[in-house]
Amino acid sequence: MQTDYKLLQSQLRALLADEHDTLANTGNFVALLNQALQDINWIGVYVLRGDELVLGPFQGLAACVRIPLGKGVCGSAAEGLETQRVADVHEFPGHIACDAASRSELVVPLIIDDELVGVLDIDSPSTNRFSAADQAGIEAVCHTFCAAQVEFKL
Ligand code: SME
Repeated sequence: MQTDYKLLQSQLRALLADEHDTLANTGNFVALLNQALQDINWIGVYVLRGDELVLGPFQGLAACVRIPLGKGVCGSAAEGLETQRVADVHEFPGHIACDAASRSELVVPLIIDDELVGVLDIDSPSTNRFSAADQAGIEAVCHTFCAAQVEFKL
């Protein structure tokens, strides 16, 4: 089923309006996407702390807490400052398996004022779950989320 990213954008804007607490906003951001996206088994934010990513608000099974920059799909997206859209995680060298059900993955860097603050990680139990249109839609909501944060303090 196709996601209505235009609707998702307006829901996100409404959800973030008038609230500046990063922890609350990040929790709601992840929960809203979890509700809107079909066929996913894990979604969450990893926050950049020094030279590693640390687990933040998420929905899904308990996951690995720390990911060094450059490691796995999340660490690669963070280091390269570019979205990683992986059709089959078993083909990705160094993929970190937190939920054995995961087959495909999309990781979008979260950048505020030209600085990396973390990544949004989404896993699906289906191979090739994320299309180029999904990538564009999710990058756009990440941009909206980042633009709405006055100060990213988690
Ligand atoms: N698979 C990720 C690790 C995070 S879990 O999927 C929640 C990776 O390789 O970076």
